[in-house]
Amino acid sequence: MRVIAVLLLTAVILSISFALFGPTAGVAGGLLGAAAAIGLVDLLQARHSIRRNFPVVGHLRYLLESIRPELHQYFIESDQDGTPFSRELRSVVYQRAKRQLDTVPFGTRHDTYGAGHEWVSHTLRPTTIDPARMRRVIGGRRCTQPYDASIFNVSAMSYGALSKNAILALNGGAALGDFAQNTGEGGVSPYHLAPGGSLIWQIGTGYFGCRTPDGRFDVERFAAMASRPQIKMIEVKLSQGAKPGLGGILPAAKLTPEIAEIRGVPLGQDVHSPPAHTAFSTPTELLRFLDLLRERSGGKPVGFKLCLGSLSEFVAICKAMVETGLPPDFINVDGAEGGTGAAPLEFTNHVGTPLEDALVHVHHCLVGFGLREQVTVMATGRNVTGFDLVKRIALGADTCGSARAMMLALGCIQALQCNTNTCPTGVATQNPWLVRGLDVPDKTARVASYHQQTVQAARAILEAMGLPGPEALRPAHIHRRLANGEVRRCDQLYPSVAPGAFLRGHAPEPYASALASASADSFAPASPRALPATGPEPIPMDLRRKEINVMTDWKRLQSDTPILVTEQDHARLTALLRSVPAEEVDAGLDDELERATIVAPEGIPPDVVTMNSEVEYIDEDTGRVSRFRLVYPRDANPSEGRLSVFAPIGSALLGLSVGQSIAWGLPHGRTRRVRVVRVGYQPEAAGHWDL
Ligand SMILES: Cc1cc2nc3c(=O)[nH]c(=O)nc-3n(C[C@H](O)[C@H](O)[C@H](O)COP(=O)(O)O)c2cc1C
Repeated sequence: MRVIAVLLLTAVILSISFALFGPTAGVAGGLLGAAAAIGLVDLLQARHSIRRNFPVVGHLRYLLESIRPELHQYFIESDQDGTPFSRELRSVVYQRAKRQLDTVPFGTRHDTYGAGHEWVSHTLRPTTIDPARMRRVIGGRRCTQPYDASIFNVSAMSYGALSKNAILALNGGAALGDFAQNTGEGGVSPYHLAPGGSLIWQIGTGYFGCRTPDGRFDVERFAAMASRPQIKMIEVKLSQGAKPGLGGILPAAKLTPEIAEIRGVPLGQDVHSPPAHTAFSTPTELLRFLDLLRERSGGKPVGFKLCLGSLSEFVAICKAMVETGLPPDFINVDGAEGGTGAAPLEFTNHVGTPLEDALVHVHHCLVGFGLREQVTVMATGRNVTGFDLVKRIALGADTCGSARAMMLALGCIQALQCNTNTCPTGVATQNPWLVRGLDVPDKTARVASYHQQTVQAARAILEAMGLPGPEALRPAHIHRRLANGEVRRCDQLYPSVAPGAFLRGHAPEPYASALASASADSFAPASPRALPATGPEPIPMDLRRKEINVMTDWKRLQSDTPILVTEQDHARLTALLRSVPAEEVDAGLDDELERATIVAPEGIPPDVVTMNSEVEYIDEDTGRVSRFRLVYPRDANPSEGRLSVFAPIGSALLGLSVGQSIAWGLPHGRTRRVRVVRVGYQPEAAGHWDL
């Protein structure tokens, strides 16, 4: 105030004195006076050395600094520049949201020979995929209200972090496009409910919307809200990629009386949710808590969101899943590259596992513990385009979520002011004037359109790859150029884990160490020191005796020479056979496998199921008998009684002998058990496979 008074006084004195010489001189005098006063204040103050050393002109630095992001974005940034989202990515969201032209002219601007460049292989036999296949039913066997989810949904963002108009438009978009909006940890607001779109209710450590006055979980308040039909799933937030290990922060500047009431917190101070939950403190307790939520929500799918930290913590949760028989219905893996409304720099930059690494670990652990079929995996972290969805699903996700791309669809311009309540587009602010600028009907249509066109783009890629649907994607489909210029498929970068291998004590590193130290009764590892790896899984004795197959060494695939199977080949290829469905081989490995050779299996007992066997099996539940010949996928045609050895049931039958049964879990708690009743072998079918 004192500074302003000095300024005004000096300006007035100078302008009066100059005004004696005419009006122009008066204005000039006023300006000069103001400059002199600013200069004087600059010289006298001690806070900013630049202003002290360069009075008046020093202010230019602060002025330019304040508009630096805008200057950079408008004048300097190239299409590939701009963080966290490049201009190219932002533009594609805007174009899809507004249904404008979303093609690019003249070819890619990416360096296709640069490190990190990724691609998938197309095929000369593209498929046509029904849009209905771009969905996934979520809900395990204890779930009575499974949810049929889109493969792309709105990731958690609370009312508080976002404006009410933003929440309304996101939910309206979700209603139009039949996808789901995650409420974020700030509770369910009237704006989440009004448009009628599907909701995933997120419950964080603050238990907003279901808390007691002292901040603990209140199961009755939970049940009352969770029973609303619009709430389709419940997500317990364990951690968030942008700030794992920290609770949430809603700056006091954004805390309106309404938000304070929805959350049940006092006004005028930052709202912190604690870093850890009080409703459980061990992996087993976590799963029992989830089961309680499932039961009290009327059987809705319940899961948790986490940014992967220590691998042993996640393995401990998997062990608890096996021990309690209470796996979550879904796990949402959030990458360290994920967004936030507000977080400390160190945490956004250096804490937590990035999405790809985390996703692969979570997928492998679930496979290794034999739980993968029961748990849906979601992935969040910089998902923007159809290719992002394809890549995440190939690496182990079933569905994907996006927060910031959805904000872009709402009109966010990446002004990077989510934490200051000054978001110029009205998306991440509670300033009523700024919120007013966000037109809900217009942005509702944009969100729905961005979602629809992104899923459509993913579908078009799958069709070009010749796949029947997203579930056929595998790591082998993603090719990546490494820093040394070589190209690797992601299955080579992340070797697969055999289903159930961890249960039999066979795990490669880093899982072996985590397995040894993790306990279902504690999140803390029993011993932080790594134990020696157990090495590759040996062939079980009974399998060795019934040596089955007719395979070939990967490295010699190009040769025409028939090769009899060695025990090692057999182990590796049987594992492969058991873990991959037909589509992977068909679409992903074609370029590597030019020619494979099979020879008749010699010395195999006649009652053992092998390639080219004729198998008769009985469905023990229905009594139905089926008869199939096990063949290479290309020759498979169930109506002709040919079953692919790469199909789940085909690979499960391999190696069984007459009288043996296999059982596997189906969605929603059903199981299927079949028993081999007859085996015959067709030697004339053995020979070359021209792939
Ligand atoms: C403004 C904003 C608010 C967020 N609020 C929450 C939240 O309440 N709970 C949560 O689990 N994650 C929250 N997130 C993280 C997102 O849900 C998501 O996990 C993360 O941003 C990664 O996705 P993205 O890269 O698509 O943004 C928030 C992110 C943003 C940008």
